[in-house]
Amino acid sequence: MLCFVMAEVFGGGRIMNFSQDCAIILAGGEGKRMKSSMPKAMCEVLFKPMIDWVLDAAENSGLGDVCVITGHLHEKLEAHLGGRCVTFEQKERLGTGHAVMQAREFITKHSGHNVLILNGDAPLMDSETISSALAYHKNADNVVTVISARVDEPKGYGRIVRDDAGVLLRITEEADATDEVKKIKEVNSGAYWFKADVLLEMLDKIQPNNAQGEYYLTDALKLSIESGLKAAAFTAKSPNVVRGANDRVQLLELNEIVRSQIIRNLLLEGVDMPCTDGIIIGPDVIIGRDTRILPNTVLQGNTKIGSNCLIGPNSIIDDCFVGDNVRLNNVDAKNSQIDSGSDAGPFVHIRPGSSIAANVHIGNFVEIKNSSIGEGTKLSHLSYIGDTDVGANVNIGCGCVTVNFDGKEKHRATIKDNAFVGCNTNLISPVTVGEFSYTAAGTTVTHDVPPYALAVERDTLTIKENWVNEKKPYKNM
Ligand code: UD1
Ligand code: CA
Repeated sequence: MLCFVMAEVFGGGRIMNFSQDCAIILAGGEGKRMKSSMPKAMCEVLFKPMIDWVLDAAENSGLGDVCVITGHLHEKLEAHLGGRCVTFEQKERLGTGHAVMQAREFITKHSGHNVLILNGDAPLMDSETISSALAYHKNADNVVTVISARVDEPKGYGRIVRDDAGVLLRITEEADATDEVKKIKEVNSGAYWFKADVLLEMLDKIQPNNAQGEYYLTDALKLSIESGLKAAAFTAKSPNVVRGANDRVQLLELNEIVRSQIIRNLLLEGVDMPCTDGIIIGPDVIIGRDTRILPNTVLQGNTKIGSNCLIGPNSIIDDCFVGDNVRLNNVDAKNSQIDSGSDAGPFVHIRPGSSIAANVHIGNFVEIKNSSIGEGTKLSHLSYIGDTDVGANVNIGCGCVTVNFDGKEKHRATIKDNAFVGCNTNLISPVTVGEFSYTAAGTTVTHDVPPYALAVERDTLTIKENWVNEKKPYKNM
């Protein structure tokens, strides 16, 4: 592969931070307005759960030790995380301060270092902002640095209240704000760097004495300031870092923001899109130069596509490795590899576990599942190849079926190099077609075919002359 272009827009560069600093991601909230059967943090932005965006941002900023606070539907979130990081369950939702209290032990382990707090439902927080805020936090020797942003519509966010000289005084929640405070457009992103020991001390002091009766994490900042400790706000460059999603409308807005940023970055790196209608490309997709993406194409997961390819229209490629000079027209491919010079489509389904070697031709209405296809092989039309190892330079005629399922179990078939599988052949697996062998059209192959043989299974063709004229009810036609 000549040249890959990272689609990742948020904090592409890994800035290493080898200290014992750590992160806590708050993801216990219910997110009622999402109307989802999943915890809110698992709602997806460009097919990637919000929690994974946030975890990636923390990890890409070099933080090795990260924990997640779970709560509502915690089993689902834990199952999704699958041991990627430690979790602490918050049994009742008593506020962001209470959520952080669940990680006391984790914070204590990082005594003498800094703790980053992130919101599990703010997926556009990026590693660059996190790292810049940490540098500022350390240089200024703050005990707490809140990451803020200036937004056009501050409604719903905590406001950053400063004095006339611009010194941070406190964060005031919407529910507790006066009309004057509500006019402030600098808001709290919900992300902070704390000195671990100060955070522990302040967590012991937070009380739920506010309009919502919650333990506010923002009070840890207020209490620090009141104790004469140094706190400040680090204003992020982009207002997007504060953006969260409370409902599906806001989730769509997040999708649209990142979708257009990813497309723009790819265009600037030499990926060609004559029209971006219906094109959705995930944040972890990599595409080479001069590859052209056509409308209604969804590229997701850890998909890597080489250069000079033509992908689309109407294709969905998920977790696939695609070489150079590949053409995929109306293809649905998942968890598979398609090597350089191959082409597939229109209307091809490449199901998980398939590996298509170089210069393979796959024509219309072909389905391939959990199979390997050797170099230069042709499957031109209307075939099903499942659980099969197909060699190189094989020709598979129209309408061939590998009969891989006996009603109970799946079996594999093998088609060796240079074999010719005639049209409408059924291969009853497990079965092998030897090298250079032929199967005659219409044959059902029930035993292995040795190399250089012809397998033919046909009844004698009978011609009944004048049958139509003699046969009732057609007699008088
Ligand atoms: C919080 C901040 C607000 C900020 C906003 C940014 C406080 C008091 N307010 O408000 O200043 O502008 O985030 O989005 O901190 N969570 C738990 N357990 C809880 C409550 C929340 O784990 O008991 C998690 C949520 O899942 C979410 C995060 O904490 O990921 C933020 O909680 P949320 O209720 O959305 O806070 P806001 O009221 O929006
Ligand atoms: Ca929120």
